[in-house]
Amino acid sequence: MTTGLISIRKAKQADAANIAGVYEDTWRHTYQGIIPHLPLSQMIARRGPGSWQRSLHRGMVALVLEFDSEIAGYVTLGRSRMRGTPYGGELFELYVRPVFQGVGFGGRLFQAARTELEGRGIDGLCVWALADNEIACAFYLHMGGRQISEGADQFGDRTLRKVAFAWR
Ligand SMILES: CC(C)(COP(=O)(O)OP(=O)(O)OC[C@H]1O[C@@H](n2cnc3c(N)ncnc32)[C@H](O)[C@@H]1OP(=O)(O)O)[C@@H](O)C(=O)NCCC(=O)NCCS
Repeated sequence: MTTGLISIRKAKQADAANIAGVYEDTWRHTYQGIIPHLPLSQMIARRGPGSWQRSLHRGMVALVLEFDSEIAGYVTLGRSRMRGTPYGGELFELYVRPVFQGVGFGGRLFQAARTELEGRGIDGLCVWALADNEIACAFYLHMGGRQISEGADQFGDRTLRKVAFAWR
């Protein structure tokens, strides 16, 4: 898909460093004050360019949104980890760099991921978000998601509630 200066395409290994940059920037902006400092820093350190390169080499499916040749956001997707549900696909991560949020890029990436899953014959999808990530939860509800499940993740000594949203 191309609209003016905006395009969405499959990620390549050569994108690893730029995706890692989006990841770090967005994680710090989103999760500071939600995830404790130490586990947040450790998670960011683990997902540097080398880690992204390895994941892409191993076949991770990622779409990147480029704005004026700069990667402004990405989404990773695949088969759902929630077996036995009508939600065959899952968005593992959907991140738009803070400076580019609120101008339609997240919505475009979401729709492109849906189309990609459908093209692979995978019906329905789900996504998990931390409940304290109110912007993400409100976004997924706005995009028509229905809350279907809850769980918890451990970050250092803090347990954080997470919520699953789904689309048929
Ligand atoms: C959540 C996120 C992906 C949304 O992306 P975005 O580019 O800011 O959203 P868009 O501008 O594309 O918005 C798309 C639609 O959702 C709506 N929307 C966006 N954020 C919203 C919010 N917090 N509450 C309600 N609606 C929202 C927009 O109004 C727009 O509606 P429209 O299409 O009817 O006009 C982005 O804020 C982000 O990357 N956040 C940090 C990372 C994160 O939390 N990712 C999810 C982790 S699970």
